[in-house]
Amino acid sequence: MCGIVAYVGPQQAYPILIKGLKRLEYRGYDSAGIALLNSKLNIFKTKGKVSELEKLVKDADLRGTIGIAHTRWATHGEPNNENAHPHFSQSKSIALIHNGIIENYASLRKELESRGYVFQSSTDTEVLTNLIEDIQINEGVDLLEAVRIALNQVIGAYAIVVMSHDDNDTLIAARKGSPLVIGIGIDEYFVASDASPIIEYTKNVVYLDNEEVALIRRNKDLKIKTIRNKDKTPYIQELEMNLDALEKGGYEHFMLKEIHEQPHSIQDSMRGRLHAELGAITLGGILDYEQKLINASKITIVACGTSWHAGLVGEYLFEDLARIPVEVEYASEFRYRNPIICEKDIIIAISQSGETADTLAAIELAKSKGATILGICNVVGSSIARVTHAGIYTHAGPEIGVASTKAFTSQVAVLTLMALRLAQLKGTIPKTRFNQLLNELELIPEKVQQTLKGSKKVLEIAEKFKDVRNFLYLGRGYNFPVALEGALKLKEISYIHAEGYPAAEMKHGPIALIDEQMPVVVIATNKGTYEKVISNIQEVKARKGVVIAIVTEGDLAVKGMADYTIEIPETEEMFVPLLATIPLQKLSYHIAVMRGCNVDQPRNLAKSVTVE
Ligand code: G6P
Repeated sequence: MCGIVAYVGPQQAYPILIKGLKRLEYRGYDSAGIALLNSKLNIFKTKGKVSELEKLVKDADLRGTIGIAHTRWATHGEPNNENAHPHFSQSKSIALIHNGIIENYASLRKELESRGYVFQSSTDTEVLTNLIEDIQINEGVDLLEAVRIALNQVIGAYAIVVMSHDDNDTLIAARKGSPLVIGIGIDEYFVASDASPIIEYTKNVVYLDNEEVALIRRNKDLKIKTIRNKDKTPYIQELEMNLDALEKGGYEHFMLKEIHEQPHSIQDSMRGRLHAELGAITLGGILDYEQKLINASKITIVACGTSWHAGLVGEYLFEDLARIPVEVEYASEFRYRNPIICEKDIIIAISQSGETADTLAAIELAKSKGATILGICNVVGSSIARVTHAGIYTHAGPEIGVASTKAFTSQVAVLTLMALRLAQLKGTIPKTRFNQLLNELELIPEKVQQTLKGSKKVLEIAEKFKDVRNFLYLGRGYNFPVALEGALKLKEISYIHAEGYPAAEMKHGPIALIDEQMPVVVIATNKGTYEKVISNIQEVKARKGVVIAIVTEGDLAVKGMADYTIEIPETEEMFVPLLATIPLQKLSYHIAVMRGCNVDQPRNLAKSVTVE
């Protein structure tokens, strides 16, 4: 959601900025723009994709060694040319790009209008731009000071970069809520919403903290202060990411690449943590919090989207293995309720990006009530990773496709390790069973590899059902979250309406929808409630529904009833989500491709949802 790139240094800025915007396309956006300073400060912007922006500037003067660029995901005002960023201030003396939302923009705008400002757009961003100009003029301060004063008047979330028409050497960047990274090269600086536009130039980065403002000057040291005017020492970190992870590597889409990476990404999530041969699990990131976990009276998992589905699998795992009550909450609901949280509670926040605004707010709320917050994040150094007390990185590698795939299975893998470790610590699992589960878990990456091989069947099913309007996904127990995740994947990228349901709940509503046109995907693996799920399949068949079943290798009973079956390898019931999700990801992918959809950047969706 919204992407920021900025550059100052010896090189021409335009190619770096455009390439950076392309690297950020995965976040989701609907307009793009760029500001460059040569003899004058020029802004070029347009609705649509970065490729539209490239067309727009084809014949323009693009010289300049300082510039800012932005991809916008509309919040205030529709996605049109006027609302695209960068925004000029009234006198065109400054240009600004912004991610986030200025909540008190209406009152600020009114005040500025009363002082003669006329607005060109309906954005909150233009309000901030004019506020900075107004402060500069009235208080006679430099740009850094004007930005700092303005941000003290702002309520909301922001990551901004500002440049001025009369200073070819300086960028001002600031953040609160929305992320911002500064890359430090040799005699040059890069600024971006995440490290992906920076990685090919430098590995040395500084992550700005909330309410920090950075003064970024050509050939000068980076200076950081808080918006309350307190100097801070920049903390330079080294990026671990490598460039290959950001390329498609021969696959047609990032999503397909990421689906196929899962044997490795799951392995990476467990590497150094799962020691089956020793009968041990080591979770270094939360080692100091193990006693708190043992003493906890309940665990609350907060997350959004796919991460919430991983959280549901976590609920089953923790309750099953570690015998501790677990609630799984939509972060957006949790933050506005009056949830009952006490100091002995453990909150687990799950987030691929580590930047989801609602999840961050839920964490702050729980923190204010004294709970211990553990994070499960993929993006190293992300906001959630930094505000939690401790946590475990999933190490799935960058996920570029908007629809989450490998991040989900890695989150489930980490939750599995956590639940098993807690069970061991609490003595809720016999040693032999524990060792048996560890041995099986170690085989999962290989079984994911086998699952990925069954492509022909999935393609055949995709071809058959690509034009239907509705899908129903059913599962019970550990397979219920899989049904939810399967349905979410399909609707996200193919725009077919799909619903996930606990199989037995079908009788209480969705059964009314079933007819010959309605494909029903049932996750019917051979453990747990297998017999019950078979009854549910019969209920669908009795109403002439079409059944596509995910079954365990060698299954005969379901095969005899279902119209289509996809086999996955046999495993422990609690590990089935790690396998059963794979064919559902592939089914969605192939249907979306056959329907001509933009698989990696589905309409209206954002990868990183930094506004509530
Ligand atoms: C967006 C993404 C989803 C993701 C959700 C939560 O909606 O499109 O794929 O599951 O945000 O994101 P998080 O980064 O917190 O896991």
